[in-house]
Amino acid sequence: MPSVLVLPTATAARELAERVIGGMGNRWLHTAAVAARAAQISAVVPAEDRDLLVAAAWLHDIGYGELAHDTGFHPIDGARLLGRSGWPARVAGLVANHSGACFVASVRGLGAEMAAYPDEASATSDALTYADQTVGAQGEPLGIEDRITDMLHRHGPGSPNALVAHLRTPHIRAIAARVQARLGAAR
Ligand SMILES: [Fe+2]
Repeated sequence: MPSVLVLPTATAARELAERVIGGMGNRWLHTAAVAARAAQISAVVPAEDRDLLVAAAWLHDIGYGELAHDTGFHPIDGARLLGRSGWPARVAGLVANHSGACFVASVRGLGAEMAAYPDEASATSDALTYADQTVGAQGEPLGIEDRITDMLHRHGPGSPNALVAHLRTPHIRAIAARVQARLGAAR
């Protein structure tokens, strides 16, 4: 029999994400596309982390769901929902820190809440951010620079995202450069 690739954590993650944000239109399209992108680039993370990476991609935006609503900042709200639901601290940490969320958290006065979720700053966390930053708000493929421009446009000039863009944008660019180098090496 041909072997079938089974990703048990990612399957459970998809089910939870569908329950929480499956009815949210573009948010769901974006999430599914980020999960697909994560699977596509999973060669850049250690083999034992591939399932975890795809799981975190399914879960990274669940903090937008009504069920998760808490601080109003989706990376923390998602991480908290995962904690309450019995998910491993590592998954919650990846979700809390995706796409440079720590910079936005500090300007929103949520630095202390964020401190509960240390950034593992690994090839796996890099891959999650890269997947999120190469998929647009409707699930369309997007280059890093177009994604950054689009995000700032959607959030607006006075937004917390815009206020920390001088810190967050170079952080995301550095992650993208590392992942692209790893993708080149993995080819
Ligand atoms: Fe996202």
